[in-house]
Amino acid sequence: MNKTKTVEIKHMSKRFGPTVALNDVSFEAYRGEILGLIGENGSGKSTSTSIFAGMQAADEGEMFFLGEAWAPKSMTDALKQGVGMIVQESGTVAGITVAENIFLGETKEFMRGPFVDRKRMFAEAQKALDQIGAGHIRAEMVTAALDFQDRKLSEIAKVMAQNPTVLVVDETTTALSQMGRDIIYGIMNRMKEEDKTVIFISHDLDEIMEKCDRLTVLRDGQIIRTFTKEEFDADQIRTSMIGRELSGSFYRNDFDSVAGEEVVLEADDLCLGNQLDHLSLKLHAGEILGIGGLSHCGMHTLGKVLFAAEMPEAGTFTVHGKTIRNEAEAMRESMGYVAKDRDVESLCVDASIKDNISVAGLDKFAVKNFLILPSKEKKYVDAQVEALRIKCRDADQYVSALSGGNKQKVAFSKWTGRDSEILILDCPTRGVDIGVKQAMYQLMDQMRKEGKSILLISEEMAELIGMSDRLLVMKDGKVQKELLRSPALSEADVITYMI
Ligand SMILES: Nc1ncnc2c1ncn2[C@@H]1O[C@H](COP(=O)(O)OP(=O)(O)O)[C@@H](O)[C@H]1O
Ligand SMILES: [Mg+2]
Repeated sequence: MNKTKTVEIKHMSKRFGPTVALNDVSFEAYRGEILGLIGENGSGKSTSTSIFAGMQAADEGEMFFLGEAWAPKSMTDALKQGVGMIVQESGTVAGITVAENIFLGETKEFMRGPFVDRKRMFAEAQKALDQIGAGHIRAEMVTAALDFQDRKLSEIAKVMAQNPTVLVVDETTTALSQMGRDIIYGIMNRMKEEDKTVIFISHDLDEIMEKCDRLTVLRDGQIIRTFTKEEFDADQIRTSMIGRELSGSFYRNDFDSVAGEEVVLEADDLCLGNQLDHLSLKLHAGEILGIGGLSHCGMHTLGKVLFAAEMPEAGTFTVHGKTIRNEAEAMRESMGYVAKDRDVESLCVDASIKDNISVAGLDKFAVKNFLILPSKEKKYVDAQVEALRIKCRDADQYVSALSGGNKQKVAFSKWTGRDSEILILDCPTRGVDIGVKQAMYQLMDQMRKEGKSILLISEEMAELIGMSDRLLVMKDGKVQKELLRSPALSEADVITYMI
């Protein structure tokens, strides 16, 4: 490794109101390396790197880029000088073309007299897309017409068109398909070969250990430790991330089902478009029933239908023997549902944590469901915040201000708090860190032992195998295969039936 420092951050601190996002953070990155940043949700990874990339300013501290004092005025300014960042959230404007996004704020470079030479701009943008291997995206397309992955790829093309010396990739890969990931990995490797620097932020410990040369761990806005490649050790890294040892198994470690004969939910011959094709299933008391498959196999639609959030075209389903016609009836039968797209479906982000949690628990602290007793409500909500260690100022904070993992905890506690008998969880641990994941798995295991039932829809094979009593593999709207819990069950066994 060449020892020239490209990135140097010294004693950086940043507060958002009462939240201390960064507390005296110092770290550096060198030429020719991929530095990994890892830490639980809210540990300060995005804040520290986005300050370096010009998105916001620190309260205290110093920064250096290639040995010189560094104070970018904006992201565009930073990018022009050689520091680019692929942000976690969407970084494109929906209503304009891909080319205009790629050259946002740069159109004066394409001026011919008083007019923008659009033809040249489109050609240059297409070149940028082609160069990263995303030539299937056409520069003249309106960005709104692209899916999430292609929008991300066009952001990457935008950053790479400026040939940066430092590239920050913030939690981008987990949301992409293998093809999208491969493009990013290719860019990372190329930058390393060209003696440049990549700062790679990911939740996926295996991925980060494989791709990175060094690894810096953040916790609660502080640097805990930097591991060199020789020191990489998954257990030690995890321990430093959460500040305590993860004891026992991550998933449940038993292979005995407590599921009884009693069927709590039964679906019969459900049909809906190309998503559900004569699908039938039974969920038993005390059972975790896993549903796996490729993302378009229909499993996400199944979750919605079983909570009556969407109606099937044909077929019936019953809960405790009763037909369910709408969400209110589902809730009356003590069902809960955490949607995959939590910001849109499971949460109201423009409301407080308290309002989000209490809306599902009304009957637990309100008289006749309308007269809310504030002290009881507060006690109920605070208990949920405490149980799942939701990181917030207090329960009056808006959900929109929380990190992804903490939002997910709110979505989860909405239902666990009210003691739901049946939970439909659609990708409940997507985008949450391992500490939260473990807490969720423990809660699920506990619910199961209390005789409650869980339908676990997931794209993560390890989670399905690790948690389910029984696993239904879906393909093209049908149940392709039923697999029973067993220590011998492998990811390959499951995948065979998905594709
Ligand atoms: N714009 C903001 N307003 C208020 N709080 C914020 C904002 N951005 C980040 N935070 C808070 O700062 C802390 C660090 O957040 P972040 O850097 O996004 O964490 P990470 O990327 O490691 O998940 C969290 O507690 C988060 O809620
Ligand atoms: Mg982040």
